[in-house]
Amino acid sequence: MNAHSDVNVDENAAGILPHNSEEATAIATETTLLDPRFYTTDFDEMDRIDVSPVRKEWDEMIAKMAADPNRGHFKKNENWTTPDWENMDPKLKAELIDFLVSSLTAEFSGCVLYKEMKRRGNNPDICQLFQLMARDEARHAGFINDALREAGVAVNLGFLTKAKKYTYFRPKFIYYATYLSEKIGYARYITIYRHLEKNPDNMIHPIFQWFEQWCNDEFSHGEAFALLMKTDPKLTQSWQNKLWIRFFLVAVFSVMCIRDHLRPEFHKALGIDIDWYDREVLRKTSEISKQIFPIELDLDNPRWERNLLKLREASAAMDAAKRRGGIGGALGKVSAGARAGLAFASLYLIPVKANEVPEDGRLVPSY
Ligand SMILES: [Fe+2]
Ligand SMILES: [Fe+2]
Repeated sequence: MNAHSDVNVDENAAGILPHNSEEATAIATETTLLDPRFYTTDFDEMDRIDVSPVRKEWDEMIAKMAADPNRGHFKKNENWTTPDWENMDPKLKAELIDFLVSSLTAEFSGCVLYKEMKRRGNNPDICQLFQLMARDEARHAGFINDALREAGVAVNLGFLTKAKKYTYFRPKFIYYATYLSEKIGYARYITIYRHLEKNPDNMIHPIFQWFEQWCNDEFSHGEAFALLMKTDPKLTQSWQNKLWIRFFLVAVFSVMCIRDHLRPEFHKALGIDIDWYDREVLRKTSEISKQIFPIELDLDNPRWERNLLKLREASAAMDAAKRRGGIGGALGKVSAGARAGLAFASLYLIPVKANEVPEDGRLVPSY
């Protein structure tokens, strides 16, 4: 399936929603520090990866993915009841749409990166893996786009591919960032799913019922990146790379917390306390990442929550300054930027815990 076939701008949407399709596309296209990004990398270097050191695990993993257990999953069925978008509280509606657009952007960004690797590569192992992962992400993105279209919003994915800025990351940074975003994606989806299992009255949108099997795809994508990192121990064991891993852990974790706090109505409607949710997701992701990362952030250190709050406040101040504009806004931006930098540095400098990476780190979804 090709997610590009879903490109469509619904003209009836204008005026019904706080976001129309153009606005939704604009939101998805915007690249700030916090948005899901589009990545590009040195595809030739990635193509040279030799998976022979992990051949046995590799073949087992590929066989599982090729069997395609979720082939029929991303289709609406009788459990899909279209939400009453028209009568929804406008703030909730805006945040729910924002959640869907941001999830779509993240899914689609994976799809674009994986498809590009498949297209540019010659290494059959690498091409096959990226083809399988692009297949999954295209389905995920297409399914969310369908849900958005029901709300009268369609993100123009073709436009997005061209207009969105691409961030260049060296392959090893792609491994760290993408590994983490796949595993954190798993942890987010399963935590929402388990919560709604216990609290079905908070099911504000039918898409959450699809999250259990969905997150298994993300889990196995994470496994694939863990194996890719296993092919070269330097990637995770050299002291420089340990510092980079630490950086990516802090960045990915803290950005998630900032973004979640921007959607208070959405979480209230789900009956989810954002602080509880973020702690749960980070605890799960941190536990999982011990399969490959030799260090673990100390999330129980009181400095973690304290500086996370400072970072969130600085980020909110930055937003306010941007909206204000003018000289006051510019000064506000500088001051908020400095505070954010300081808070981030404080998070980074919290001593980390050393972790003995297991010989065979493979995991199965267990939450
Ligand atoms: Fe996905
Ligand atoms: Fe994924």
